[in-house]
Amino acid sequence: MSAAPKLHVSVTRKLPDAVEERLKALFDAKLNIEDTPFDKPALLRAVRSADVLAPTITDHIDAEIIEAAGERLKLIANFGVGVDHIDLNAAMARGIAITNTPGVLTEDTADITFALMLSVPRRLSEAIRALEQGAFTGWYPTWMMGRRLGGMRLGIVGMGRIGQAVARRASTFGMEINYHNRKAIDESLAQALGATYWRELDEMLAQMDMVILTCPRTAETYHLMSAERLKRMKPSAYLINTARGDIVDEHALALALESGALAGAGLDVFEREPKVDAKLMKLKNVVLLPHMGSGTLEARNAMGMKVIANIEAHAMGRELPDRVNV
Ligand code: DGY
Repeated sequence: MSAAPKLHVSVTRKLPDAVEERLKALFDAKLNIEDTPFDKPALLRAVRSADVLAPTITDHIDAEIIEAAGERLKLIANFGVGVDHIDLNAAMARGIAITNTPGVLTEDTADITFALMLSVPRRLSEAIRALEQGAFTGWYPTWMMGRRLGGMRLGIVGMGRIGQAVARRASTFGMEINYHNRKAIDESLAQALGATYWRELDEMLAQMDMVILTCPRTAETYHLMSAERLKRMKPSAYLINTARGDIVDEHALALALESGALAGAGLDVFEREPKVDAKLMKLKNVVLLPHMGSGTLEARNAMGMKVIANIEAHAMGRELPDRVNV
């Protein structure tokens, strides 16, 4: 009996070496060795010929692309947790399953979130720039005074895996943990984290010293931190975003930071990535990172292996471990 033909898997970006080796061994994998981002025509070509598309979070898989997919395309196995770049309804309508890579980047993203939480009140970007520009003339009592994390009231918006991982770190630093979520988390978990639930986001925002965004980007969270909501925060408060850029009205945030209506911000994600609001770039009270929350070899390898596990399950007709559009 001849073996079943290998699935044709089209991969849109260069992936870690170990992941590419495994993809080549298991499937008829079309890799993107040059790592040139796929434009729309390239995405259209890929979905017309592949059995599986393995895109990542910067590929815009809109309804037009999904509708152009060939009959054989039955799975889009995304490299990344966020699926806000994929039209899930269009995929459902075409019977195409979407999977993602949850769980394996939680701790690394929480680490970067926490790095921003430390860097912003302690003014690390500003301090590094001052040193590099020769502005460090020696220690003196009022040099580079920041604010202490311990004792601050932390408000976590989105108490999923990453929010909880940040809460664990924050409580060891002596922060008071508060959170807003669509639903309260399990009572025993909330107790273990020492976390207080706020049903009303607006009420929580007004009381916090630091607010972090770790919620998914959905239709409901677009501009969740609008100009209006930013105004609810204390002028001494800090905002940290490692989720998706357009959860915050970036221009309104820049204005709030410039006018002193907010003390500082730490951002790993931007509304019009890779573009960053010009005003934000000039501010001293920000720490800006180029979307690197999951950027460890460990996480990126594990994300790739999750993509593979989902494709293998699909090939064998098994339940997909990380299906998002059910
Ligand atoms: C994701 O997986 O959605 C992250 O943003 C990648 O870091």
